Amino acid sequence: MVKNRIVEITGTKYPFILGPMRLITLGEMAAAVSNSGGFGQIAASGLSSDRLLLEVKKARDLTDQPFGINIPLYRMNAFDALEIAIDAGIKTITTSAGNPAMFMKRIKEADLKVLHKVSSKEMALKAQSCGVDAVIATGFEAGGHVGRQGTTTMCLVPQLADALNIPVIAAGGIADARGVVAAFALGAEGVELGTRFVATQECPVPDFFKQLIVEAGSDSTILLGKDAMPIRVLRNRAVDMIQNPDKHQEDMHLRGADADAQYIQSGGDADTAVMPAGQISGLIKKIEKIDKIFLGLIQGTDLLTQQLKTMFGGG
Ligand SMILES: Cc1cc2nc3c(=O)[nH]c(=O)nc-3n(C[C@H](O)[C@H](O)[C@H](O)COP(=O)(O)O)c2cc1C
Repeated sequence: MVKNRIVEITGTKYPFILGPMRLITLGEMAAAVSNSGGFGQIAASGLSSDRLLLEVKKARDLTDQPFGINIPLYRMNAFDALEIAIDAGIKTITTSAGNPAMFMKRIKEADLKVLHKVSSKEMALKAQSCGVDAVIATGFEAGGHVGRQGTTTMCLVPQLADALNIPVIAAGGIADARGVVAAFALGAEGVELGTRFVATQECPVPDFFKQLIVEAGSDSTILLGKDAMPIRVLRNRAVDMIQNPDKHQEDMHLRGADADAQYIQSGGDADTAVMPAGQISGLIKKIEKIDKIFLGLIQGTDLLTQQLKTMFGGG
């Protein structure tokens, strides 16, 4: 059991958070992470209100531990998702992709805690001044959408830890206990993992996606949409087609060449699907069960901190 400001906010045993993943982290995955002592969350992105409600019910049936909902704020139905979270008795939500300011009055009124995703110090200071309870500092190496600024987790987290009064959660490039210890050394009080949880038995993506992560090297991901909404994905034929449409004239007649249309849950295979994943894919060598990942994170963090203490503290 860890004691710090993040576990006080999430109500969980450990300050380890399941990164929300569109159409992937639904009720079952949220419950599996919460049952392991972490903070599971359901990604509201791409879900109708009825479906979101259904996923909340599913998670409730599978766990009595706290879990949250991630609400992308730019979406039309963000306010509906917020009301669903409040009605369902969710205590902590996360928000991303937008300005939390116009949601804060309702969030505070309902006594909800909110963790907001940021990718720069400027965004983090704004979020703090709006009244969010913590920020999730997303580095450039993360899977999925990242900031246009290009700041890595290693550089972003300590700068935010120094600049803010509220706690910082590190997201991007963390897949084992080494990443956890590094993030805490940089000043984070929690970590959010996405890519690591894709390569799990519980993750509802096709096996080829998990296998590609396990087979990935250190340079197997690439950034799409650099100037608009950058998204880090695994390199494959679909991505090459989006980047070099002239090379793929024939394929272009067959499918729309944009990342959203070919998102993993829209179907496809290892060549044709667009699969968000982080640079840390290259470290992941096995498809694991979620509870085993937690065990490794907890035992590994304990061992590493003892080793560091011996090395530097003479203990
Ligand atoms: C397959 C995939 C889908 C994602 N979808 C979303 C999303 O819908 N909303 C969001 O806020 N973040 C999304 N992310 C980012 C994660 O929530 C998390 O912050 C990120 O994966 C952390 O970096 P890591 O992949 O290096 O662990 C996604 C990441 C992945 C790998």
